[in-house]
Amino acid sequence: MVDNALTAALPASIGARVSSATLKDGRATVVLDVAGLAPAERDEMEAAVRESVGASGEVEDVRVILTAERKARRIVAVGSGKGGVGKSTLTANLAIALHRMGHKVGVVDADIYGPSQPMILGNQAARPEARENKLIPVESTFGVPVLSMGHLVKQGQAIAWRGPMVGNALSQLIDAHWGDAELLLVDLPPGTGDVQLTMLQKFKPAGAVLVSTPQDLALIDAARAGQLFDQAGVPVIGLVENMSGYACPHCGEVSDPFGAGGVEDAAGRLELPFLGRIPLDLAIRQGSDAGKPPAAGDDAIAEPFRAIATKLATWLSKTA
Ligand SMILES: Nc1ncnc2c1ncn2[C@@H]1O[C@H](COP(=O)(O)OP(=O)(O)OP(=O)(O)O)[C@@H](O)[C@H]1O
Ligand SMILES: [Mg+2]
Repeated sequence: MVDNALTAALPASIGARVSSATLKDGRATVVLDVAGLAPAERDEMEAAVRESVGASGEVEDVRVILTAERKARRIVAVGSGKGGVGKSTLTANLAIALHRMGHKVGVVDADIYGPSQPMILGNQAARPEARENKLIPVESTFGVPVLSMGHLVKQGQAIAWRGPMVGNALSQLIDAHWGDAELLLVDLPPGTGDVQLTMLQKFKPAGAVLVSTPQDLALIDAARAGQLFDQAGVPVIGLVENMSGYACPHCGEVSDPFGAGGVEDAAGRLELPFLGRIPLDLAIRQGSDAGKPPAAGDDAIAEPFRAIATKLATWLSKTA
């Protein structure tokens, strides 16, 4: 039970961690969830609670109980067989949509050779720090922390590593100080290479979302990527059709440059859930290039991402 009169003056970031606050005979008892915090942050938070709660007139004494009930952090991989179908776009926008729904989500850009999250999330200049040999994710202005090779190497610098190093890099990005993030969305590179194998072997995802365009070739590749997850015992949460239907910005007429509905049909054939479709929309590309993902706004274009995020959240709560 949280006595709101006791916690009203706390900043929202601390208030969110108060699981109970009661007042009895002048003594306030506050239970604070400090999971994922560094010792210094924990001490700071405890002091802030003491001060803020203690300032209330009726309170003579404050007792703070710290708990670290860390909810198990889960990984969901966003993959595709073919490149360029919109994995990175979907990952960033899903993360933002989930954040806006109140989930604590981090983004891992597992595309070691061709990172794109720093550009999409508009924080290319950010550089992660490290603590106790682990990276601290960088913030984006959208409430979603992120780690990407793009934050570690200079822009335009070629990364020419071989398999084992790539696996190491991925481990550094995932096994980082993710704080209270309950979900890591991992933006995979295309295909079925070293990164995917390391992912499956070392950090088995709770599930995978597969992206495809309506083209036949992309569909076949998505099916192959699906097999990779199947073999590793990672459930495919569902298929997303990206770049389906193009609304002409001048006349509004919707055309289907890559066909439409193909991914939903394929999902039916493969007996996989269909999570939704995202139209081919110039605003999505422009937003991605400018570090302004559409899911952060309130235009109609945010809606398909929200709808897919809702389905993903439902899947996560059902399988919790
Ligand atoms: N629905 C969409 N409408 C318009 N442009 C889109 C859409 N989805 C993605 N794009 C654009 O298509 C390009 C490829 O998208 P993205 O980088 O997300 O694909 P990817 O699958 O991650 O590619 P890669 O395999 O290279 O990692 C980007 O320029 C992106 O802005
Ligand atoms: Mg990508």
